[in-house]
Formats: sequence, structure tokens, C-alpha cells
Amino acid sequence: MAQYRLIGMSGSLRSGSYSNAILATLRERFADRAALELYDLAPIPLYNQDYEGEKRPPVVKQMLADIEAADGMVFCAPEYNHSIPGVLKNAIDWASRPAFASVLAYKPVAVMVSSRGPLGGARCLEHLKVALDSCLCRVTLAREVIITAAEAKIKDGRLADETCLAFADAAIEALLKEIAVWRAAQTT
Ligand SMILES: Cc1cc2nc3c(=O)[nH]c(=O)nc-3n(C[C@H](O)[C@H](O)[C@H](O)COP(=O)(O)O)c2cc1C
Repeated sequence: MAQYRLIGMSGSLRSGSYSNAILATLRERFADRAALELYDLAPIPLYNQDYEGEKRPPVVKQMLADIEAADGMVFCAPEYNHSIPGVLKNAIDWASRPAFASVLAYKPVAVMVSSRGPLGGARCLEHLKVALDSCLCRVTLAREVIITAAEAKIKDGRLADETCLAFADAAIEALLKEIAVWRAAQTT
């Protein structure tokens, strides 16, 4: 059984998504140590503050329970209009409540972005880090993973560029280390 349980979220619902392909690649590469679940955000309804706590839709309650049970999360987002895709921001908004005491608080997370464009989603990465900071996530320190011209680096649904793979692997290694340190701190 894998030592770590991770949830991967991309925020792209597109079949053939490059972000999902990157998460699928990392799931395979770390399979001996981590079970990385690629989370489907399609069923998550739009956030509505009228439906918090016990009133949350069942699918949202399940998502929050899954996040709570996970040791960490991996976000690999495309950039939409210089920012976070609404699908992913919506999931973060649901998961962020109650503020500062949510399932995201102190959760170790790794962040990475990919885009067809020459900036690779760098602006989305910045916005994503700010949003996750506001949820008190432990955004793992690592060299930034920004995958430009993604269409040239994804082959047969997997990330196939050695340089990008090295950066992405390092980010996951850093995340697993963060989780291990966090676990050790909780038992002392
Ligand atoms: C609504 C929309 C807005 C986009 N805005 C940007 C953008 O601001 N910057 C960028 O680099 N790419 C932008 N793109 C291109 C996407 O980042 C690119 O198509 C990416 O591969 C989509 O992610 P996916 O492959 O995971 O579905 C946009 C695409 C869409 C559909």
C-alpha cells in the first residue's frame, strides 16, 4: 500500500487536458510511494454561501471528506484569462470554509501550471499560491513548475519532456518530504 495519499486537482474538464496528463504522469511515477487520485471537479456545483456546513451538497461533503483524509494535494492548473480556472477556484472556495479552520488549513500542497502559451500559466501560478495561502495551505517550497508550450511536451497523454519532468518530480519529492516532516511533528 502506498505510504502517502494525495489528491490531484487540475480544474480542466477538457478531454485531452494537458494538466490532467501531467497529473496522470506523476501518479504513475510516484505510484510506489503515493496514491494520487485525480479528482473530477465536473460534479461540483457553484459555490453558494447559503449552503454551508450541514447544508452543503452531498458531492461537496464528499470532496471535503476526501481532502481531509488526504495527506496532501497536487494542483496542476491551466491558466484561464491570466488567472485560475473557475472550476478549480470554485472547488477551493467550497473547501476553504470555515475560514482558517477548513480541510485546507495546514494541508501540504504542491502547485504547478501548464499552458500552450509562452508564459506557461505563470500568472495563474501566482494567483493560485495567493488563494492557497489565504486558506492556510502549506504551499511546498520548490522550484516553480511552469510548463510552457504544453502541446509539444505531452505525448500520448503523458508529460514527455525530461526537463519538465525533473522539475515536476522535484516538486512532488518536496511535497512528500513536507508531509513526512509534518507527520513526524504530530507524533512528537
Ligand atoms: C477560457 C480560456 C482562457 C485562456 N486564457 C489563457 C491565458 O490567460 N494564458 C495562457 O497561457 N493560456 C490561456 N488559455 C490557454 C490554456 O491555458 C491552454 O489551452 C491549456 O492547455 C488548457 O489547459 P488544459 O490542457 O489542461 O485543458 C486559455 C484557454 C481558455 C479556454
